[in-house]
Amino acid sequence: MTTRNPSSRPNVLIVGSGGREHAIAWRLAQSPRIGRIFAAPGNPGIGRLAACAPVGATDVAGLVKLAREAACNLVVVGPEAPLAAGLADAMRAQGITVFGPSAAAARIESSKHYAKGVMARAGIPTAHCEAFTDLGRARDAARAVAREAGGVVVKLDCLAAGKGVVVAGSPEEAARAVDELGAMGGSQGCKILVEERLAGPEASVMCLSDGVDIWVLPPARDHKRALDGDQGPNTGGMGAVAPARLVADAMLADRAMLAAIERTILRPAIEQMAAEGTPFVGALFAGLMLTSEGPKVLEFNCRLGDPETQAVLPLVDVDLLDLVEAACHGQLGRVGASASSGGVHYGLHSTCVVMASLGYPGHYEMGIPICVPDPLPTGVTLFHAGTALDDGKLVSAGGRVIGVVGVASSAAESRRLTYDVVGRIGFEGAHYRRDIGAI
Ligand code: AMP
Ligand code: GLY
Repeated sequence: MTTRNPSSRPNVLIVGSGGREHAIAWRLAQSPRIGRIFAAPGNPGIGRLAACAPVGATDVAGLVKLAREAACNLVVVGPEAPLAAGLADAMRAQGITVFGPSAAAARIESSKHYAKGVMARAGIPTAHCEAFTDLGRARDAARAVAREAGGVVVKLDCLAAGKGVVVAGSPEEAARAVDELGAMGGSQGCKILVEERLAGPEASVMCLSDGVDIWVLPPARDHKRALDGDQGPNTGGMGAVAPARLVADAMLADRAMLAAIERTILRPAIEQMAAEGTPFVGALFAGLMLTSEGPKVLEFNCRLGDPETQAVLPLVDVDLLDLVEAACHGQLGRVGASASSGGVHYGLHSTCVVMASLGYPGHYEMGIPICVPDPLPTGVTLFHAGTALDDGKLVSAGGRVIGVVGVASSAAESRRLTYDVVGRIGFEGAHYRRDIGAI
């Protein structure tokens, strides 16, 4: 039976169970207008702010049923998989307001080939790229580019949870990358992309979009590699800082660069998608390389980044509920300033350090007890990811376990605050990077 929540205090369902979703719940819970918060499936940290329901993030029918039964006025979708599976479409078909793109628009992330097409048609700067269905031809092309340019990037044209990209140096490495990715994606019939290798620092710039207008969040820098010095295998993300430096100059220059990214990358992408009949409503994430020729897109994601969101949301000086609702109702233009024009705490800096299980991103044990200092120092927040309760005690239950986020008036102080708490968390064998915010 469907119930309705007639009050102006919206009930919100958050879909997902990671640090990103905990950060979203934490920020929404601060809204003076918020009704009840539900999460599916959530985690113990989210459970302190929301009622968690044991419904999987890709159980589309189960989530629609939950949203109706819990009288949710708004659904906020965290991860990409449910979006690619059509969760937003299924909610909208039931008249439920949802923050997240349609499956058609989510292809901006689920198909890198489609994303490249949007970029080409909109004139958005990105690396040159060719797509192949034939592994032999892909191997030849990858070898040739590596030989000529001294390197190449090989990508799988499917969602691959961060494992579908290999940056190769030599022609041999390039050929091996094609074989490896071909073996991963062959059964799904995924294309192989052979892409020009770009050079420069990376940044993640996210915006909320109502399909026409955008609201830009402060830029972040994430660290995907498992080990210090950006070494080791790729992971879901070991930490992030915000605001990220976009140019090696002062804050004013950073803002000018952010405005340029908005003008040449984010707005053209949203305008192009609308013009092609696939308007994008939700969070658009641009993974950028700041090359000597200006910022270029490495990838678009159809959702907020993780761990970037954990570092970014504490800096946003506007009610997240207002922002998300405005995005869902085509009214973002009315919300006012965004990061490029000043809607954030620009005097503040945040550092997020992810504490992961020993062995992550490879094999790891779960069920390790976790002991958290209580109270936490002012300015520090913990966001849960792979945690569970075992007989009421907090234990690890995944690869990335906890994000520690410290906010302060300088980058150095936010880093110190964060690592101070990281060092005081009892979690035997915890694996984390020591250099977040220092490189
Ligand atoms: P993606 O999932 O496409 O963002 O790629 C993952 C990581 O691979 C990025 O964060 C970059 O470090 C690297 N990468 C992807 N594309 C390129 C490129 N064209 N040139 C250099 N590095 C890249
Ligand atoms: N941290 C990168 C991502 O969320 O895809």
